[in-house]
Amino acid sequence: MTSGTSTDPSIGTSTGAWLPPGYRAEPPGTHPPLSFMGYKSTALRYPTQALHPLPQRLTEVTGPLFGAERLGAAEDDLTHDDGGEAVGQRIIVHGRLLDSDGRAVPNALVEVWQANAGGRYRHVVDQWPSPLDPHFSGAGRVVTDSLGRYRFTTIKPGAYPWKNHHNAWRPAHIHFSVFGQAFAQRLVTQMYFPDDPLFFQDPIYNSVPDERARARMISAYDHDVTTDHWALGFRFDVVLRGREQTPFESADDDD
Ligand SMILES: [Fe+2]
Repeated sequence: MTSGTSTDPSIGTSTGAWLPPGYRAEPPGTHPPLSFMGYKSTALRYPTQALHPLPQRLTEVTGPLFGAERLGAAEDDLTHDDGGEAVGQRIIVHGRLLDSDGRAVPNALVEVWQANAGGRYRHVVDQWPSPLDPHFSGAGRVVTDSLGRYRFTTIKPGAYPWKNHHNAWRPAHIHFSVFGQAFAQRLVTQMYFPDDPLFFQDPIYNSVPDERARARMISAYDHDVTTDHWALGFRFDVVLRGREQTPFESADDDD
């Protein structure tokens, strides 16, 4: 990705040093551990026994396919559900999907889901006293183009409380899921916004050990995409592996 430290796809690294193509493992601390003391519910999720790998069969490695022809016309716009217009700060979130050498990853399904401007999800288990917005869909999806680009129009999500500890509030964030060419190729992460005052107490954000990797989850304000009298722009590139890999969650996580 990313974010605050931009990755220039033309040179392969954000530092400007050219590197030949090849596999470069991400540094230790790029991803959160399965169990994180400050994030209580991880104790209910991570495996307590050794994993038993299952062979990938034809079903998993060949489909389902997520071609652009399967998407609806306006699934990249979360702000016009049910014939009206969502309330809140309209934003454009865009970026590129890149491999470890900064090359574009085209034809990948990018899905997002998020809380509305008041910090509430349109989900039955989210019942805290903040209003739902009938015109905010809360979820969208697009397929990356030939340059690995994606783009959504949405509303800046609000912070929301959760029960991790007393007075716990999550920083504003958008959940991302990226599918590759088959069902078994799925990666999940979260995008944050610059200068959020709640980073200090968010165990999901802070569960990524490496500070530089953590920063790659933060989008960058993009004035070139900000549109006059319409919306603010934010850029969030996702790097699938390598030294600048975006931290990925170990499991699908709706917090
Ligand atoms: Fe969330």
